[in-house]
Amino acid sequence: MNLGVNARDAMPDGGALTFETANVQLEEEYCNNHLEVKPGSHALLTVSDTGQGMDKETLTHIFEPFFSTKEVGKGTGLGLATVYGIVKQHDGHIMCYSEPGHGTTFKIYFPAIQTEKLSETPKFETEIPGGTETILLVEDDAVISELCGSLLESFGYEVILAGNGKEALAIYKNQSARISLVILDLIMPEMDGRQCLGEILRVDPQAKVLIASGYSENEPSAQRVSSRSLTT
Ligand SMILES: Nc1ncnc2c1ncn2[C@@H]1O[C@H](COP(=O)(O)OP(=O)(O)OP(=O)(O)O)[C@@H](O)[C@H]1O
Ligand SMILES: [Mg+2]
Repeated sequence: MNLGVNARDAMPDGGALTFETANVQLEEEYCNNHLEVKPGSHALLTVSDTGQGMDKETLTHIFEPFFSTKEVGKGTGLGLATVYGIVKQHDGHIMCYSEPGHGTTFKIYFPAIQTEKLSETPKFETEIPGGTETILLVEDDAVISELCGSLLESFGYEVILAGNGKEALAIYKNQSARISLVILDLIMPEMDGRQCLGEILRVDPQAKVLIASGYSENEPSAQRVSSRSLTT
């Protein structure tokens, strides 16, 4: 992205920004002149523009952190330092060719990994079974709530939405007989998922509750929930 933005900045009146990829073989000779590069197959990414280019002095500094020729507030000078870091993390190699008035070309060589061709992603041919039961979906994020709700509905379920634990509990108390499953978000305002779970289980100790959370299972509150639901 930074290479693209730099090219845009170098072409205020427009021009061409070109991205190319190629498989290349780096020979011993090239590597003797570029000591950090190992011979062998590489994936080459070339990013070039037809912009204003750079003079020799600028070229020697472009990968330095905080080096920028842009106005204050326009560039931090961290873009190419970051690009350099990313390329190095991949054992890669980056070169820049440029002349004032003749555009700029960045060549990035990534060492290629030799592997067997990966088999194609398996296709799921079996139909996902749905159902006609009623699900109480407790989720405070409106976007996630709507998305999950319509997804469940597309599999035939009837969905009741609740935006927080309090609302969920009120609905559950009234309609527990027809609610087959509660899908419960853990982190919510008002009454959080943990409290809500306790209350729901107080209404019906046999209630089926699926805890959904963006946090990992090693996260303490998730563990507290599971131990609590086991003991209740
Ligand atoms: N495609 C290019 N054409 C001409 N000059 C470039 C080009 N790419 C980089 N430069 C020069 O290199 C300098 C450093 O680039 P770098 O991306 O690191 O920082 P920046 O673009 O100035 O700021 P930042 O990316 O942090 O917003 C630029 O200020 C510019 O002088
Ligand atoms: Mg930049």
